[in-house]
Amino acid sequence: MGESNGRRSALVTGAASGIGRVTALHFGAGGTSVCCFDRDGSGAEATAASIRDAGGEACWLAGDVSDEVDAKSAVSTALGEFGRLDVLANVAGIGHFSNTAEESVEDWTRVLGVNLTGTFLMAREALPALEEVGGAIVNVASVAGLTAHPYAAAYGASKGGVVMFTKTLALEYAPRGVRVNAICPSGVITPIAAQFSAPEGAEESLLMRIIPPTGRLIDAEEIAAAIDFLSSPAMPNMTGAVLVVDGGVTL
Ligand SMILES: NC(=O)c1ccc[n+]([C@@H]2O[C@H](COP(=O)([O-])OP(=O)(O)OC[C@H]3O[C@@H](n4cnc5c(N)ncnc54)[C@H](O)[C@@H]3O)[C@@H](O)[C@H]2O)c1
Repeated sequence: MGESNGRRSALVTGAASGIGRVTALHFGAGGTSVCCFDRDGSGAEATAASIRDAGGEACWLAGDVSDEVDAKSAVSTALGEFGRLDVLANVAGIGHFSNTAEESVEDWTRVLGVNLTGTFLMAREALPALEEVGGAIVNVASVAGLTAHPYAAAYGASKGGVVMFTKTLALEYAPRGVRVNAICPSGVITPIAAQFSAPEGAEESLLMRIIPPTGRLIDAEEIAAAIDFLSSPAMPNMTGAVLVVDGGVTL
């Protein structure tokens, strides 16, 4: 384990793009040391470089959250660099729309593997280090894990799983001082939208259900600020919470 300089440290998955990238920059700007983890190594490296250019402390690692060995390496890289781990932000995720009758086992398994198993693996590897400092996990789920989204069976099942995994882990670790919370955004302005194109024959009226009454997409910085809030030591009693940031989609 590396030598701690007393700074808090965060391991952010999905740190190459979108919400993960903005969350890593947000933590870095606030004085938290950040380990940027993503299967896109050059993207993770670029995020770490931006944090350092702004005067922060960062490292990066390429890897797959759904791979046991990579998940373990991510935690040991953060500990090796910073000597402690205060926050695990599980942001990495994938998804797609499909007609369920045509969904392949490969696509189903890939979505569950990254979004749900990946969240579990990263948490499992990080828990001992988080317990040492009374740290926190924030899992990025989705409103698709709370209410039905059309043509998103695998994505919705994975995010619903993340919500229940969050509550279960929060209960188990409440007496041990590790807090576990989830955030459920609706549409955030990130490149993930390119993965969600309406399938053949999609019902327009069903797709309209996921448009927020505000009529606005969310800026990733708002989600980063919420992740920061949920993981903050200023919120010692906030655990097992599922924070909905959705412009009213679920109302
Ligand atoms: N953008 C939205 O509208 C929205 C809404 C609700 C929830 N979310 C959730 O927010 C999270 C971040 O999404 P985003 O919008 O920033 O998407 P994004 O595509 O911009 O970023 C996702 C990042 O995760 C990385 N990633 C994917 N699979 C990985 C794996 N197996 N191992 C490591 N890294 C992996 C990608 O390389 C990418 O850098 C996801 O979990 C997503 O489901 C997004």
